Amino acid sequence: MSVLITGIGELTTNDDELGVLTDAAVVLDGARVAWAGPARHAPAAGERIDVDGRAVLPGWVDSHTHLVFAGDRTAEFTARMAGEPYRAGGIAVTVAATRAASDATLAAALRQHVAEALAQGTTYLETKTGYGLTVPDEARAAKLAAAQVDEVTFLGAHLVPPGVPADDYVDLVRGPMLDAVAPHVRWADVFCETGVFDADQSRAVLTAAARRGLGLRVHGNQLGPGPGVALAVELGAASVDHCTYLSGTDLDALAGSDTVATLLPACDLSTRQPLPPARALLDAGVTVALATNCNPGSSYTSSMAFCVATAVLQMRMSVAEAVRAATWGGARALRRDVGPDAVGVLRPGARADVHVLNAPSITHLAYRPGVPLTWAVWRAGARVRGTTHSIW
Ligand code: NIG
Repeated sequence: MSVLITGIGELTTNDDELGVLTDAAVVLDGARVAWAGPARHAPAAGERIDVDGRAVLPGWVDSHTHLVFAGDRTAEFTARMAGEPYRAGGIAVTVAATRAASDATLAAALRQHVAEALAQGTTYLETKTGYGLTVPDEARAAKLAAAQVDEVTFLGAHLVPPGVPADDYVDLVRGPMLDAVAPHVRWADVFCETGVFDADQSRAVLTAAARRGLGLRVHGNQLGPGPGVALAVELGAASVDHCTYLSGTDLDALAGSDTVATLLPACDLSTRQPLPPARALLDAGVTVALATNCNPGSSYTSSMAFCVATAVLQMRMSVAEAVRAATWGGARALRRDVGPDAVGVLRPGARADVHVLNAPSITHLAYRPGVPLTWAVWRAGARVRGTTHSIW
């Protein structure tokens, strides 16, 4: 049945022609948006819902998470807050817990995290493997993720497992592990960082993945300056994620490329790193996405609203830029911004992913930080129950 959502005080479409509308309406027909425009011109529909002046925007697109895991790293977080630096080696703690968990335990935890994100307006979600680091454990993570999330990324190159020679591990990742995982994933990623995978090792993994037809993503420039951004641009990766420490050369390379800079401010706060140079990226013309990086070590939040508020309050992004980065930007980072699969946009033909705020404008996302503003959510045209201010 079609649904007319009307009485919209402010409609953010991310569509160049429709723009931002006041006194607007949207019609959903099955899983797609059928119409969007001024309320006075809205066509009739099977059901009519008046949102009484509230703001409506596309559902959040969270393009960077690590949700196939077991275990808890509260102690590591507590030590960090007491002054310990973040170390990538903490990943090994989650690897041990994840390997020891049953399929059912991992699937249930993943379901809970996906539901938690959806209840906050995240209607399109990417997640990664990377807490298995053996052929069977990585394949298991990929299969479990593919059953529950929209986009899956192979991150076998997340850490060299303790005791394994690095070059042997790179050969495993780009050989048998990639073979086992490829049928279940769309993307491949590498943690390209000093002390983890260097540029040559990262290139070896990514070029093997590209030969298998996978799209590329890179974790780069998270803990210090490094080759991640340059490598991502060189290989035409869809996205380079973190971008906390960027040189002028990195900025120029990104500005001349199609690679999205995905910023993960909740991670930088939780690891006590500087926040990424969002303003410099935007001013250089780089496409920016915002994502949560939800994982048990460096960023245990599923709140896109928190990332948006942080981007506005501390990274000098405007509210409109931050909301666009957390919706359309994420879609662009996942190459889902155009065509029949388009998300992060409200225009006829796009997926009916709709987020209604309990507020008159998107400005409230930064003006009222920390307040749960999600009032209603549709994902692919289906109403989501259990949002904070559920109207159902
Ligand atoms: O994006 N950078 C690498 N991976 C994750 C951290 C994972 C962890 O600490 O468990 C990240 O921050």
